[in-house]
Amino acid sequence: MRKRLADKLRKMPLGHVQKYRHGTLKKNFVESIEEMELILAHAIPEGISNLLTFFIVSITLWIVDWRMALFAMAVMPIGIIAFGMMFKDGMKRMGPYYRASEEMNENIVEYISGMEVIKVFNQTTSSYDKYRTSVSHYKETALEWYKVSWNYLSVYSVIFPSTLLFLLPAGTWFYVDGSLTTSQFVLSILLAMSLGIPLVRLVEFMPLFPNLQQKVQKIESLFAEPELVEGSLKNIPADCSVSYDGVSFAYEDKPVLHQVSFTASPRSITALVGESGAGKSTLAKLLVRFWDVSEGQIRIGDTDVRDFTFETLMNTVSYVSQDVFLFNTTIMENIRMGKPDASDEEVIAMAKLAQCHEFILETEKGYNTLVGDAGDKLSGGQRQRISIARAMIKNAPIVVLDEATSATDPENEDRIQAALNGLIQNKTLIVIAHRLSTIKEADQIILLEEGRIAAQGNHESLLSTSPAYRLMWEAHRDSLATDLHSEEGRHFHA
Ligand SMILES: Nc1ncnc2c1ncn2[C@@H]1O[C@H](COP(=O)(O)OP(=O)(O)O)[C@@H](O)[C@H]1O
Ligand SMILES: [Mg+2]
Repeated sequence: MRKRLADKLRKMPLGHVQKYRHGTLKKNFVESIEEMELILAHAIPEGISNLLTFFIVSITLWIVDWRMALFAMAVMPIGIIAFGMMFKDGMKRMGPYYRASEEMNENIVEYISGMEVIKVFNQTTSSYDKYRTSVSHYKETALEWYKVSWNYLSVYSVIFPSTLLFLLPAGTWFYVDGSLTTSQFVLSILLAMSLGIPLVRLVEFMPLFPNLQQKVQKIESLFAEPELVEGSLKNIPADCSVSYDGVSFAYEDKPVLHQVSFTASPRSITALVGESGAGKSTLAKLLVRFWDVSEGQIRIGDTDVRDFTFETLMNTVSYVSQDVFLFNTTIMENIRMGKPDASDEEVIAMAKLAQCHEFILETEKGYNTLVGDAGDKLSGGQRQRISIARAMIKNAPIVVLDEATSATDPENEDRIQAALNGLIQNKTLIVIAHRLSTIKEADQIILLEEGRIAAQGNHESLLSTSPAYRLMWEAHRDSLATDLHSEEGRHFHA
């Protein structure tokens, strides 16, 4: 089930995955699935054996002496009433209990993954409060439930095994009056004593069922989430142009892109510029189907991106996100992820091109350094360069760089730019750049404003036709002028 769930998440649109908080997903993945095992491996086999024991013993007792059987079972109504009351009360409390535990899970995950921010902003009190409140809330909810249950639990777990309570006096009476032989009496006592324990075990499995039903519902609703429909085309298209054709898109009901149309011809550079929040990243992510367009079409060559298999699409497009994520394995494996059959030499060659080689050698174990261990030793820019190497080793004909150099200082940016220039030859490149100087030489620049194309053209033509672009350019140039003089030249040569 865990494998299926992981597979499911991969096939869901990213937006639907992000709707779930990490804590909830973790709980589904770990605990809920774990508890499925409880019913399959314990409740069913043990339940059946306890049930059988109970029936066989009762019938035997009945055959030995039916009166003894009745007296042995006389305690049961009391136990059943106590259990029933506990069960009824538990059903009421289960919802709030699970909500509290889910909330606690979410806050724990958030607290831990936000540790860096929490420290920096010294928010220890308020975010810790949120965490602590949810833990106390969980504790209170659980304790309240236990407090009520404990009473009932004590009653039935004492009563059920006390099958001799009525049987012993009654049996003595029958024995004295001669209607029960010694052997019948002794056998009844033995049988009755083995009646209680299976019964306790049996009723204790009962709450598992509604409990499990809750979890099954949660997991099933996750499995029922719509999936992106995978196409069937397996060939990497020969014509690797990218065309957006009247593309509109909304996150839930927040429209982000409106009727965006443009074409990036093969082996050309298209730059997307615009203010933060204009929709640049969204536009790029639609190409790799993190989401599907709401309207319009994105094509590679003549083919709608939705017609490719995921594998083909991923082999055709290399997407370097602005949020770098490295897996906790060696640097070597992190780069190799882009091309699983790459040799060590290939990885190293690519790392050299992406300007990673030097700093990798400086880490403790070089390429075999675990990224997690090196976590504090790698800078944002270094991580970004590793992710560039990872994307580049894939050698896909279409490359999308989403502010891939944003975390680098100007000096490194220069080196990366040089590396990229070598790597992106003969590729269709779509680049989102935060520094205008890096995109000055693009074949086509697209200025996005609130999800619409406000202007389109090359640097020179945009300078004369688009006042908005000119303003951006001037602002950019002014900001450069205030930079260190020595860096100015470097910025502009890109
Ligand atoms: N996962 C998301 N869910 C909802 N809204 C989003 C999501 N990602 C981005 N947005 C919104 O979409 C708009 C465009 O975002 P984005 O494409 O990241 O802009 P840019 O890359 O140009 O800065 C923003 O208003 C942002 O708030
Ligand atoms: Mg962005």
